Amino acid sequence: MKILITGGAGFIGGNFVHYMLKEHKEYDIVCVDALTYAGNLETLKPVMDNLKFKFIKADITDRREIYKIFEVENPDIVVNFAAESHVDRSIEDSEIFLRTNVMGTQVLLDACKKYGTRRYHQVSTDEVYGDLPLGRIDLFFTEETPIHTSSPYSASKASADLLVQAYHRTHKLPVTISRCSNNYGPYHFPEKLIPLMISNVLNRKPLPVYGKGENVRDWLYVEDHCRAIDLIIHSGKVGEVYNIGGHNERTNLEVVKTIIKELDASEDLITYVTDRAGHDLRYAIDPTKIYQELGWLPTTDFEEGIKRTITWYLNNKKWWEHIINGEYQTYYEKMYKDR
Ligand code: NAD
Ligand code: DAU
Repeated sequence: MKILITGGAGFIGGNFVHYMLKEHKEYDIVCVDALTYAGNLETLKPVMDNLKFKFIKADITDRREIYKIFEVENPDIVVNFAAESHVDRSIEDSEIFLRTNVMGTQVLLDACKKYGTRRYHQVSTDEVYGDLPLGRIDLFFTEETPIHTSSPYSASKASADLLVQAYHRTHKLPVTISRCSNNYGPYHFPEKLIPLMISNVLNRKPLPVYGKGENVRDWLYVEDHCRAIDLIIHSGKVGEVYNIGGHNERTNLEVVKTIIKELDASEDLITYVTDRAGHDLRYAIDPTKIYQELGWLPTTDFEEGIKRTITWYLNNKKWWEHIINGEYQTYYEKMYKDR
């Protein structure tokens, strides 16, 4: 069995590479990644010498290059993580989001069609459903919730989902889609809420909370997401969408205060800054379908997962210090200076 994983030098893709090499020692894993600002070969360093692993630097929008890779590798399954993934960046400039997330997906779908790939899995997001109101804890996203996007990022992800479903209906391509809630854990790029807050606390920098910090996210430890995708690509029904999430809803302020407490810092570091434009209020996943069909349940709750994550950041300072001391500084300055 050969699995081609795109975006494997990023946060979730990298965790998935490690997970699959550990759980399926007999599988060949090929990682295709363009190494954008979010891709980091340091994440894959522990597996670079593994004979069952191969890394190929390539852009999923490069049709010729991608076809060449499929010709040579002939993967059984493709799992597409490659994407521009940060909402704030999509608000600044959405062009690359459309190119990578939509056109890149199209190239991969065409490659799977041309080379007869047995399964294409699209890693999507709960953000395609838009948001839920605050204070309506009876409401959740199900697979039947209409697509209703808020940011250019989520619009690009929803477009890709529609394309995947069109290739299934029209070309009978064997596809599955998963829509997961917010992940956290090791190798998370420090522009996102949890790693940003951990690294800022450790550097005694202000903690920029958007608006009043009341927005709610449904946090899932990244390894639980990896296990869900593993189950879907092996046992999920072709043509189906699976929501992934584990009822770990927290307001942003609760998350930030938990990190402060775990690191024994002061809440004085919290700084309320201008809200994100179009800021989604609440995400909450109903995971009934994946539980009933595939028996998936999350195994790590937020209290346990956040401790493990903080410990990882404390033990792997070189990994994230290297990032925040590089060109990321320019991004940080631009996004937060006058906010
Ligand atoms: P990330 O930004 O950490 O990583 C993205 C990876 O894709 C990077 O390694 C980057 O180099 C690579 N990439 C970008 N453009 C590429 C291109 N044109 N060709 C090849 N590689 C390219 O993202 P992430 O947080 O790991 O998210 C992975 C996927 O999961 C995305 O599709 C995202 O939409 C989805 N998702 C993320 C979350 C989350 O909480 N982070 C939750 C649900 C779904
Ligand atoms: O729900 C899944 C999505 O989760 C994925 O599809 C995206 O790829 C991923 O980036 C994530 O999107 P969010 O926008 O929810 O994640 P982010 O970490 O950027 O923000 C989480 C919340 O924290 C959000 O309400 C905005 C807020 N926030 C974020 C940052 C970076 C702050 O208050 N301050 C900050 O500095």
